[in-house]
Amino acid sequence: MPDQKPFAIVTGASAGIGYELARLAAMDGYDLLIAADRDMTKATSDLRALGANVETVQADLATTEGVDKLCAAAKGRSVDVLCANAGHGLGHGFLDQDWKEAHHVVDTNVTGTIYLIHKIGRDMRTRNAGRILITGSIAGFMPGSYQAVYNGTKAFIDSFGFALRDELKDSNVTVTILMPGATDTEFFDRAHMQDTPIGEMKKDDPAWVARIGWDAMKRGEGDVVSGWKNKIQATLGNFMPAGLGAAMHRRQAQPHGGQGGDGTSTATKAILGITAGAVGLFALTSLLGGREDTRVESWQRAGRRAAEQTGRRARKVGRRAAAQAQSGMEAGRRALQSWR
Ligand SMILES: NC(=O)c1ccc[n+]([C@@H]2O[C@H](COP(=O)([O-])OP(=O)(O)OC[C@H]3O[C@@H](n4cnc5c(N)ncnc54)[C@H](OP(=O)(O)O)[C@@H]3O)[C@@H](O)[C@H]2O)c1
Repeated sequence: MPDQKPFAIVTGASAGIGYELARLAAMDGYDLLIAADRDMTKATSDLRALGANVETVQADLATTEGVDKLCAAAKGRSVDVLCANAGHGLGHGFLDQDWKEAHHVVDTNVTGTIYLIHKIGRDMRTRNAGRILITGSIAGFMPGSYQAVYNGTKAFIDSFGFALRDELKDSNVTVTILMPGATDTEFFDRAHMQDTPIGEMKKDDPAWVARIGWDAMKRGEGDVVSGWKNKIQATLGNFMPAGLGAAMHRRQAQPHGGQGGDGTSTATKAILGITAGAVGLFALTSLLGGREDTRVESWQRAGRRAAEQTGRRARKVGRRAAAQAQSGMEAGRRALQSWR
């Protein structure tokens, strides 16, 4: 009788967040089918050392053939967990990018990812069981100057994940969207972004990020943003005008020595500062009362509540001011009559 351990597919498991997700799956007793487009010898031996049965598929998941090859390697076995994680970025100005590289970002992060989810998700729906963890990004909340295509793909995939989750809400198939911020992986090197402020800054530990996503997936949660700074950035993205978001992103992603300064006027900087401060304060207040993995949905609810409360307070203040103005006018009228 073959070993009937649960079965997980993890894409992009050769390195970074995907490697850490695969480790967590192995530690939780899953058999693994892992995929990447380069050699996975080290990842495979590390995962086997944790006691997992591991199969590998080396394929370009930007292509239909690559995704088909991965699905065929599952040999009809039911997939309990799908971590659709493979993805990559691309820095520099859009018009300076190589078109084939930009196209590959879209094909990997969007087309290949949703094709895989379509194939595996249908089987999960038929069995009425399964968990899908999609690695989106907080980049999806902000137009990404100097990483425009990548942020666009992540806006797509974040949005897609929420929609699919809703479509499957009456089933036992769950969809969780992990939205990390800058994480210390090979991502920035591969995206040619080492010469940017974001490429140089301190980043989150991929093992920690993967743990947050894996645990949220096990709980069947909708979405999880790793880290409080990223929560603030995601909240900012929800509130601020897109143009300001793009200006903020430019400051993080424009290569050093880029033409034309940072393109942010003093007025824009002031608005950015005030918006960031106000939303940051709000976010921090919410955070202090909430858990580390507070979901975006609950942030949005908190935002709506704050707006309602502000509206109620403003109406109350307005009513009081009107009453005071009226009594002031009456007192004036009385004073005028007694003077006459
Ligand atoms: N690092 C961050 O700051 C950050 C932030 C938010 C979201 N994310 C997302 O997290 C996910 C994982 O990225 P990471 O940070 O862990 O980067 P990483 O260390 O570069 O790992 C990316 C993984 O995806 C695989 N991959 C990329 N394109 C592929 C393709 N066309 N076909 C097959 N495999 C492919 C890579 O395989 P090979 O090694 O074989 O190339 C690698 O295993 C991505 O979806 C990324 O967008 C990253």
